[in-house]
Amino acid sequence: MSVRLAGNVAVVTGGGSGIGAALAARLSREGARVAVVDLDAGNAEAVARTLPEALALGVDVTDPVAVTEMVDRVGAELGPIGVYCSNAGIGSGAGLGDEVDWARSWAVHGMAHVHAARAVLPPMVERGAGAFVITASAAGLLAMMQSAPYTVTKHASVAIAEWLSITYGGSGVSVHCLCPQGVRTPMVAANALGEAEVAASGDILEPSKVADDVVAAIASGVFLILPHPEVHDYEVGKVADRDRWLAVMRKLRARIAAS
Ligand SMILES: NC(=O)c1ccc[n+]([C@@H]2O[C@H](COP(=O)([O-])OP(=O)(O)OC[C@H]3O[C@@H](n4cnc5c(N)ncnc54)[C@H](O)[C@@H]3O)[C@@H](O)[C@H]2O)c1
Repeated sequence: MSVRLAGNVAVVTGGGSGIGAALAARLSREGARVAVVDLDAGNAEAVARTLPEALALGVDVTDPVAVTEMVDRVGAELGPIGVYCSNAGIGSGAGLGDEVDWARSWAVHGMAHVHAARAVLPPMVERGAGAFVITASAAGLLAMMQSAPYTVTKHASVAIAEWLSITYGGSGVSVHCLCPQGVRTPMVAANALGEAEVAASGDILEPSKVADDVVAAIASGVFLILPHPEVHDYEVGKVADRDRWLAVMRKLRARIAAS
């Protein structure tokens, strides 16, 4: 079942930058009233100012109380939430990372999706309509060689999205999981995700292209959103022969390290 965007209410977390800002703009163009949510309240405000009927909220999505309050406020000011894009993410943690990298990565790429699901899915199920979109990454299906915390917690993002789809997917609510490779955003520009690795793994897409793919998936109901379609083949190759896939990844890692 597809969700009507015109006249609906959408929340985009991480909406102050990159993919989130593009999603907010695209959903607004479809006629949704958008709540732009970001840890950086100034960036959220700057994005919301460019959109009609938008609300900017400075919220830490890892804080369950703040997420519940945000959802209540959006409901009161814009109306019942029909689309929730749980998109905020961080690129911290080179190599095996430290304790702080892991704690932050689990909080943002794991529990933030759970806090959001608890707050918005029951009312969506009650109304029998809604779309819940988790931004994971191709790293959640494959690997981000430069970062164990990013890779592992993005696998958690994918698993949460799958679990939510299994549990809520048949009730008029659609769950989607966005898994891009490189996208031209401040996260990549800051080298937080390993510029050489991103460049070696294919085209770096514009955030607006990714936002188009999300809107198309909400319309069609498809779960997995792959702006880089080759990721499908890579995953099929991984599942078909894990040892071969690991050998290929080791070679790629060595090539990037030498470059
Ligand atoms: N850019 C890429 O190549 C790429 C590839 C795959 C997946 N992703 C994922 O896409 C999503 C968006 O990333 P982006 O590339 O647009 O990066 P970005 O850095 O431009 O935007 C991320 C936004 O999330 C916000 N944020 C971080 N922690 C937060 C928190 N605790 N509460 C609220 N907001 C928070 C940041 O303030 C920032 O505005 C992330 O989940 C990222 O992991 C990005």
